[in-house]
Amino acid sequence: MMFFFGRGGIVGWGSICGCLTSAAGAINLIGDRNQTSKLQDEVMTWYTKAEFPQYQPAGLDLATTVANSTLCHVSVTTWCQHTGIARGDSKRGERCAGVTADTAAFVADMLNQEFIGDGYTPKYAIADSVDQCMSCHGEHTIGKDDCVPCHRDAH
Ligand code: HEC
Ligand code: HEC
Repeated sequence: MMFFFGRGGIVGWGSICGCLTSAAGAINLIGDRNQTSKLQDEVMTWYTKAEFPQYQPAGLDLATTVANSTLCHVSVTTWCQHTGIARGDSKRGERCAGVTADTAAFVADMLNQEFIGDGYTPKYAIADSVDQCMSCHGEHTIGKDDCVPCHRDAH
């Protein structure tokens, strides 16, 4: 229940995808600050690049999309536009449940590698635009999501 607020990107605001708030929270319970930051960076980056949803127990054969963002708004809207399935449709609920399961599995695997195995080595790189744009805008700007989708018309 502690993370139930995350649904719809915090009670429907379309802000951060709710499975990322809970993933980051679960990671935070274990390990030191360097370990938790590394694993939280990794789940955020992985999320932006993953083809969702992989886990589809209802057998609906739902199409998958890549969000290229950590925002619920972008993730859900991209998928609904691509599939033509409405936000209120129960299939969309199945999609987001699948995304949550995919994220839980990814985090469990990372935690096992970090704390039981030989240590987790990050595999997903933050978008190139972030370093590039931040070299000039870093003084006043915060963020690690790809800058370009929201600022295509800048410069
Ligand atoms: C070489 C330095 C430099 C780089 C690299 C750079 N910018 Fe800028 N950017 C500027 C400057 C200078 C301005 C103008 C500042 C002003 O008007 O106050 C600006 C303005 C902007 C603005 C506001 C005005 C507009 O055109 O909409 C946005 C948004 C922006 N940049 C986004 C980006 C993004 C996204 C990237 C990476 C893809 C990027 N910038 C890379 C220097 C840079
Ligand atoms: C989810 C969408 C989104 C992402 C991702 C994003 N921005 Fe923005 N950014 C905005 C919005 C919305 C504003 C405020 C409205 C505006 O000025 O465009 C803004 C404002 C800015 C401004 C000030 C613009 C101005 O007019 O002075 C800069 C510079 C900027 N962002 C740079 C970046 C950089 C660099 C990144 C990547 C690290 C980034 N943004 C990622 C949405 C986004």
